[in-house]
Amino acid sequence: MNRKMGKSLATGLGFAGALAFAFAGGHARAQAPAGAKPKSTQEQFKNIQVLKDLPADQLIPAMQFIAASLGVECEFCHVQGAMDKDDKQTKKTAREMMLMMMAINKENFKGNREVTCFTCHRGANDPVGTPIISDEPPKPEAENEAIAAKPLPTADEILDKYLQAVGGREAVEKITSRVEKASLSVPGGPEVPIDIFAKAPDKRISMMHTRDGDSITAFDGHQGWLSNPGRPVRPMTEQESNVAGLDAQLHFAADVKQLFTSFLVRPAEKIGEHEAYLVRAIKEGKPPVRLYFDTESGMLVRMIRYTETPLGRNPSQVDFADYRVADGVKIPYRWTLARPGQRFTIQVSEVKQNVPVEDSQFAMPAPPPAPPKAN
Ligand code: HEC
Ligand code: HEC
Repeated sequence: MNRKMGKSLATGLGFAGALAFAFAGGHARAQAPAGAKPKSTQEQFKNIQVLKDLPADQLIPAMQFIAASLGVECEFCHVQGAMDKDDKQTKKTAREMMLMMMAINKENFKGNREVTCFTCHRGANDPVGTPIISDEPPKPEAENEAIAAKPLPTADEILDKYLQAVGGREAVEKITSRVEKASLSVPGGPEVPIDIFAKAPDKRISMMHTRDGDSITAFDGHQGWLSNPGRPVRPMTEQESNVAGLDAQLHFAADVKQLFTSFLVRPAEKIGEHEAYLVRAIKEGKPPVRLYFDTESGMLVRMIRYTETPLGRNPSQVDFADYRVADGVKIPYRWTLARPGQRFTIQVSEVKQNVPVEDSQFAMPAPPPAPPKAN
């Protein structure tokens, strides 16, 4: 049976905490002082037998990858509050599975990580070994072939059309800052107010005003950082920073060609009601980014980013909608952020552009010298 991670997180940590946990990297822990050697998994955790000699901040992303691959919650393998305990058979099996996965890749794929937990499990704890008879009627061959047969535009053509659709280079580059008032909601959940400040070229901070305090995600132009109620402020990991840095690009439509080193165009796919070309944007040493552009309007409708973990890549997806013109540029008034088992939508109600925004607003606050009260 598949169980969704979201439920137990939401009840265990409260609504805001659940979002912060899932979308902010999920690990609250004091960061090693700047300059110090980052801790290894064994130094940070108590009972590591397989995922050894890795930076400690890669462990939780790897766990999130496992949970998403099997479609389970952490408690499927862990005793709540005592993650180091080996009381559950599933945890012991998972260790054997990690070794098996590494052996498969070593022996068959030159050590490249081709096979992951998801390859077999596909969101279930019990992989299916027999082909499935689908209740859905098969898609007519002709439809697939028609899509595949359409000549593809080049990446340059798609990206140029996008820039034009947004308003053109000049209009985009005229925008120096953007301040948005919005609300964040999960399906069936309450709305939480959120303030977003962005400054060209790549500074961004969003502040979600939760019941318990502000939940902050920020990128200062070089480094991302996170702050959640009741937890110490922490810098993002390099992986998280890459994604946050991309989100912070205020002139994305104008600069996208410079942000990556190569692009690969794939045939159009249905995204919601529309067809969209997939452009795989590649930069050496980083996981690729998938950009989906509406074949008609030319607008960016979806972006999928990945963060690397020791076991596989964790995806996060943003769908852009409700594009409206503000000061000569088209900007999305709504976007939906999704990860396996979780999704939320941000709806903008008010936009102000080219207003003064101080650089200091994006800087990570220094941790307080001595906490005034225990949390
Ligand atoms: C399918 C089983 C499985 C799931 C699901 C799972 N884990 Fe793990 N977890 C493991 C295994 C196995 C280890 C030990 C890894 C090793 O020995 O290298 C581990 C280790 C850990 C540790 C280190 C504990 C210590 O001190 O030794 C933490 C923390 C942890 N997991 C957190 C999580 C979180 C949070 C989730 C949910 C997002 C999760 N795990 C989901 C199997 C799982
Ligand atoms: C090559 C295919 C394959 C890969 C890769 C794989 N698994 Fe499995 N896994 C299986 C099969 C098949 C079973 C069921 C075995 C059985 O029923 O006895 C299973 C069972 C399990 C179970 C026990 C589930 C239960 O309900 O008791 C866990 C936990 C598990 N896998 C975790 C993982 C993790 C974590 C990874 C990645 C590190 C992984 N698996 C990678 C094929 C795979």
